[in-house]
Amino acid sequence: MTVKMMFGLFVLCGLFVVSVACSKSGDGSAQSAPAVNEMGVGPIQSKVTMEPINSALVAQGKRVFEEKCSACHKFGERYVGPDLKGVTLRRKPEWIMNMILNPQEMTQQDATAKELLATYMTQMTFQNVSQDDARAILEYFRQNDSQ
Ligand code: HEC
Repeated sequence: MTVKMMFGLFVLCGLFVVSVACSKSGDGSAQSAPAVNEMGVGPIQSKVTMEPINSALVAQGKRVFEEKCSACHKFGERYVGPDLKGVTLRRKPEWIMNMILNPQEMTQQDATAKELLATYMTQMTFQNVSQDDARAILEYFRQNDSQ
């Protein structure tokens, strides 16, 4: 093999590595492009329809809230996290559910949640709530805000 050929191979390898690296980063950014919108980031990506308040759902939500959220949240005053009185008036239902179901990504990718993290200086953690329980908690918040 001549020096010229070896140099040629070397250049080809270099080009190959660069093209693979570029195509990888291209794909990656397309896939992980954050879906930032007023619904927030998380499993709830279609509109949740709001019907008249369902009292069975409120009771379920209250129970889950007291067990899993009351260590950090109150109604009517700031605690470890924000005061949740009026939360349904300042946020969309889908945003609230995504915050409950996906708090870590929300505080990294959603502008509003990012600001909250900067204010409260504590990362809200996922409390192992199911989507149904998150919906029930939302109903409990709606009930609180209707009074
Ligand atoms: C470890 C403490 C902690 C726990 C437990 C916790 N949160 Fe939070 N929550 C926070 C903090 C702090 C924020 C502000 C965002 C941040 O810093 O992560 C927040 C933000 C929120 C917000 C947005 C409030 C607003 O003004 O927009 C909602 C809604 C919420 N939490 C609901 C819940 C629910 C429901 C639960 C229980 C399933 C829960 N949180 C459990 C600490 C907590």
